[in-house]
Amino acid sequence: MHRLLYISTARTTPDRASLDAILRVSRRNNAAAGITGLLIVGGKRFLQTLEGPAEAVFETFDRIRRDPAHFAVVELARGPIEKRAFPEWSMGYQIGGAAGDTVSVPAAIGAVIAPIEDATLRAYFSGFAEMHAAA
Ligand SMILES: Cc1cc2nc3c(=O)[nH]c(=O)nc-3n(C[C@H](O)[C@H](O)[C@H](O)COP(=O)(O)O)c2cc1C
Repeated sequence: MHRLLYISTARTTPDRASLDAILRVSRRNNAAAGITGLLIVGGKRFLQTLEGPAEAVFETFDRIRRDPAHFAVVELARGPIEKRAFPEWSMGYQIGGAAGDTVSVPAAIGAVIAPIEDATLRAYFSGFAEMHAAA
């Protein structure tokens, strides 16, 4: 079992419809490949973690990183894990910072990371939340 974590920047600020389209495809493909994870969107920035069988994770990431919808894809971490942090989500999703949102990015991320047991993974997500709090 492997986990990979990356950040990237959207070409244009994603709206709900384009995010929904990403999620629909992700959930279909990930469920078939045994991948679970979480995608967080803060303004134009994505933070995503993929977890599952190593080969499936790397194949999926190769596909994602070539997607012209985003650029500046930076891998933050990859490595073996003992158990999934998001076993129940083929791709969980948290958005913050969109026009009309009532929940701030840090508050939204705070809620979603509270149950994560892995301290390193939690630190990546809270770092992302802090970056958006400062913006
Ligand atoms: C930020 C972001 C996250 C994505 N996450 C996933 C994902 O978790 N799984 C996936 O299969 N595709 C994901 N995609 C979509 C892929 O880049 C690609 O478009 C898709 O896998 C193609 O699937 P298809 O060949 O079945 O249409 C993501 C795209 C973006 C921009």
